[in-house]
Amino acid sequence: MLSLKPVLFLLLTVVCLGVSKVTPHQKQELPTAVVDGGHGVFPVRIAYETGSNGEEDSSSMILAEKRTRRKDPANHLKYYNGGWNISDRHYKSSVSYTAAPLFGIAAVWFVGFGLSLLSICFCYCCCRRTPYGYSRTAYALSLAFLALFTIAAIVGCVILYTGQGKFHNSTTDTLDFVVSESKDTINKLNNVSSILATSKNIGVDQVSLPPSMKKNIDRVDEMVSKAVRSLDSETQKNEKYIHDVLNSVRLALIIVAAIMLLVALLGFLLSIFGLQVLVYILVVLGWILVTATFILCGIFLTLHNVMGDTCVAMDEWVQNPTAHTALDDILPCIDHATAQETLFQTKDVTFQLVDTVNKIIINVANIDPPPFPGLLNYNQSGPLVPTLCNPLNADKTYRKCQDGELDASNAAQIWKAYVCQVSANDMCTTVGRLTPKMYDQMSAAANVSSGLTYYGPFLAGLMDCSFVRFTFTRVHADHCPELIKYSKWVYIGLTMVSVAVMLSLVLWVLYARERRHRKYTKLAVAASEHTSLATETELK
Ligand SMILES: *[C@@H]1O[C@H](CO)[C@@H](O)[C@H](O)[C@H]1NC(C)=O
Ligand SMILES: *[C@@H]1O[C@H](CO)[C@@H](O)[C@H](O)[C@H]1NC(C)=O
Ligand SMILES: *[C@@H]1O[C@H](CO)[C@@H](O)[C@H](O)[C@H]1NC(C)=O
Ligand SMILES: *[C@@H]1O[C@H](CO)[C@@H](O)[C@H](O)[C@H]1NC(C)=O
Repeated sequence: MLSLKPVLFLLLTVVCLGVSKVTPHQKQELPTAVVDGGHGVFPVRIAYETGSNGEEDSSSMILAEKRTRRKDPANHLKYYNGGWNISDRHYKSSVSYTAAPLFGIAAVWFVGFGLSLLSICFCYCCCRRTPYGYSRTAYALSLAFLALFTIAAIVGCVILYTGQGKFHNSTTDTLDFVVSESKDTINKLNNVSSILATSKNIGVDQVSLPPSMKKNIDRVDEMVSKAVRSLDSETQKNEKYIHDVLNSVRLALIIVAAIMLLVALLGFLLSIFGLQVLVYILVVLGWILVTATFILCGIFLTLHNVMGDTCVAMDEWVQNPTAHTALDDILPCIDHATAQETLFQTKDVTFQLVDTVNKIIINVANIDPPPFPGLLNYNQSGPLVPTLCNPLNADKTYRKCQDGELDASNAAQIWKAYVCQVSANDMCTTVGRLTPKMYDQMSAAANVSSGLTYYGPFLAGLMDCSFVRFTFTRVHADHCPELIKYSKWVYIGLTMVSVAVMLSLVLWVLYARERRHRKYTKLAVAASEHTSLATETELK
């Protein structure tokens, strides 16, 4: 059961959690690293602390409550009411208890059939053989049932084999989907990181960014790089581990299907041909195999139930974004307010960057150089440099660009036309209003602001787990039905195989007995006929 525990978690949660492993890091980093006076890029201790943690008790929600109401053997068989909570001992014991009948059958079978085998063995060696009555009907019936159960075992094996194939495909699909989501996130984070890295150099000579903002950009960059590294290694590790587990499960099920099929067919043939010793060897082997398959069957039933619970839990979690649930314990998302604050701060950086660049354009580049030498006079001349479009107003509401304003994403391209050649002391010697130095700084600033505009919502989504919600929604809609259906196939196939082989075993023994009696009776009849013949001749 231990080796399968990850499987349940794996498919629907652990991997999804792999994706979100980024959040714990941010969560740790946020309060310590980035709380910095007024201008934090990614803030905000206050919102964070009064967020999800503060509300813990008021809006706690039980996930998949109805589904998970099961008897709990670890609590005197009282009903378990805690809902889906993978870290709760009682949840685990109550969901395992759903497979109790199967484990029960395995135990009863193991003990019961073991004892019968012993007594048969004992009788075979020591009991005096008494002639039994031989009934043609019993013989025919046992043969018919033997054939029936063998066919049932074959059908069970086919269901099991098909089921495990489909189960494996749907688990692999789910895994691939989640991993691709994760890799997508990594790519985006890498892009954010490279944008932020270029921004480190921003600082236009004449007017530079507020130093606190530069510091914060640096910190966010560090945080993002860290998140990327951990998410990347986490994803790779989980992916490999889960693939290995899935492959082992697949292999185990194929082997079980093959062996059980072989045992059923072999047993049938050996009993038909009356090879008693071999039949008894096979019976002993089958006795152990059947016990093992029943246990495996119970494990799969548990797994099937946990999957169902997890699917329902994910759905309810997605639909109740504000409630505190057991999923939040493993998915430490930042509350919505903090994420919004983050978004607000990225907007603030964007706004200030664009504003700074525009101030330089308007107050420095686009003026006629004053007659005295100085910062504002670098012999700028020629057509006026177009300003950047600021996508935001000062209150961070969205603003429409006006004609002639440049989009931050292609500003660098257009500004190229306004760059002049410079002398050794940075004076323009040709027509132009931007020195190469100014140009570099300004396009870096434009790069950062366009990047932050583009990735801001993504970063916010990362923090409040809305991207996990999206992933869960897709898993719930696209993958859960198949996962549940095919795990059911597997356990139904397993049950069918175990029951059919179990009954076949009993019938092998019965049939062998009937066969022996038939032979014995025939011999007896032949012998008595012989004697009566002999007496008749003697009489003559
Ligand atoms: C990351 O940036 C590269 C080049 O800037 C771009 O081609 C790619 O689509 C971006 N990736 C994502 C996930 O946005
Ligand atoms: C889940 O179970 C753990 C361990 O019993 C417990 O500490 C935690 O509070 C539970 N979570 C919820 C949301 O019930
Ligand atoms: C100033 O720029 C003009 C071109 O606009 C150029 O002809 C002139 O030589 C420059 N003056 C100096 C001192 O470089
Ligand atoms: C702006 O970003 C693009 C791609 O993201 C990069 O190729 C380019 O070098 C950047 N420009 C500057 C000036 O940083």
